[in-house]
Amino acid sequence: MSAKPILNALEATNRNFRRAARLLGLDSMLQTSLMIPFREVKVECTIPKDDGSLVSYIGYRIQHDNARGPMKGGIRYHHEVNLDEINALAQLMTWKTAVVDLPYGGAKGGINCNPKDLSPSELERLTRTFTQKIHDLIRINTDIPAPDMGTNAQTMAWIFDEYSKFHGNSLPIVTGKPLHLGGSLGREAATGRGVVIAAEALLAEHGKSLKDLTFVIQGFGNVGSWVARLIHKSGGKIIAVSDITGAIKNPDGIDIPKLLKHKEKTLSLKDFTGADNFDPAQVLVHECDVLIPCALGGVINRETAKDVKAKFIIEAANNPTDPEADEVLLKKGVVVLPDIYANAGGVTVSYFEWVQNIQGFMWDEKRINYELQKYMTKAFHDIKDKCKTFDCNLRMGAFTLGVERVARASTLRGWEA
Ligand SMILES: NC(=O)c1ccc[n+]([C@@H]2O[C@H](COP(=O)([O-])OP(=O)(O)OC[C@H]3O[C@@H](n4cnc5c(N)ncnc54)[C@H](O)[C@@H]3O)[C@@H](O)[C@H]2O)c1
Repeated sequence: MSAKPILNALEATNRNFRRAARLLGLDSMLQTSLMIPFREVKVECTIPKDDGSLVSYIGYRIQHDNARGPMKGGIRYHHEVNLDEINALAQLMTWKTAVVDLPYGGAKGGINCNPKDLSPSELERLTRTFTQKIHDLIRINTDIPAPDMGTNAQTMAWIFDEYSKFHGNSLPIVTGKPLHLGGSLGREAATGRGVVIAAEALLAEHGKSLKDLTFVIQGFGNVGSWVARLIHKSGGKIIAVSDITGAIKNPDGIDIPKLLKHKEKTLSLKDFTGADNFDPAQVLVHECDVLIPCALGGVINRETAKDVKAKFIIEAANNPTDPEADEVLLKKGVVVLPDIYANAGGVTVSYFEWVQNIQGFMWDEKRINYELQKYMTKAFHDIKDKCKTFDCNLRMGAFTLGVERVARASTLRGWEA
């Protein structure tokens, strides 16, 4: 059983876009203009390692579309980062910000590196060098980066600091910053919290709630660990979890607060006393009600989809299911809640952080979580309306919603935009 992507991320994203554009009846000129990115940047980042030797990495920033506002998207540090993947992720950000109706466009960045192989000081030098290479292309009202896989609040603090050397103090230049440096309350948990709000909205439609169901989670980083915490708190039973270190299962439910302590102490999921180790390749096809991929893209393809046993898939990761897998899952009656909606809680609270930085006024956490719930719930109903209009699945409901909003804005602005 292969968990390697069969369709590359960009082919998969373009295929979904074209399908939505056809449903919307967009003319071919507009389709081409919406699909092609506004700007692609590839930079070389050479840094001295701690031992004095030099090493070079390739970094990318793709600015996909700005019809609805400044472009917004994370920066990923991972050894599989490449131009096509970042392009696909940037495009997904354009549709995602439109789905939740934020006044943003889409962008994404990344560096092809393995952050686990770099010391904190090497990571800092790499981040500062990357920022020096792209500082002229980002602005608080043109392109605002954020964390993604392999990056975190500390990475954002370094980008903010380096950028501010060139342009003066500019807190809104990145979001996902530490709380003591212009970050927002609730941002760290936001993507996971948004995933859980999205899951609750979907399950309620099917007459179900978190506490009645079993869950399997792939990935236990920022998103996966918050999803696990919040589902556990709501009474949902998490029966299997995996990350890069391994997979564990317990049919009676895993004690997530204890697992978080175990992970903090050992830096691994394996050998947790409250569960059994098992083969991580089996996690996506493990028996459960709800599968939540929270790690890499392309993991559910036409091969893996055949063996999926979950009744619901909530896409917390970006691009975990390719269009061929979607067809297999549709035939099997598996309901897929798509990434461009399910994981939009992160960018939504990033938007709140940007607004607070510009206003120079901090909101309390209650207000952040209330607003997040409001945006996510409204988007769910907007997607369902599109599903009715076009008699389509949730992915096409979300794509038609996002693409239509961006197409309208582009047309209103005119072709010079
Ligand atoms: N952080 C955000 O705010 C945010 C927002 C929207 C979407 N996402 C998406 O969510 C996903 C996870 O992001 P994150 O911020 O939690 O990243 P992270 O780096 O904090 O965590 C990634 C997790 O994936 C695990 N992982 C990596 N390779 C794996 C493999 N082969 N099998 C199983 N697990 C593996 C890692 O061990 C880690 O637990 C990504 O697809 C990202 O694009 C993140």
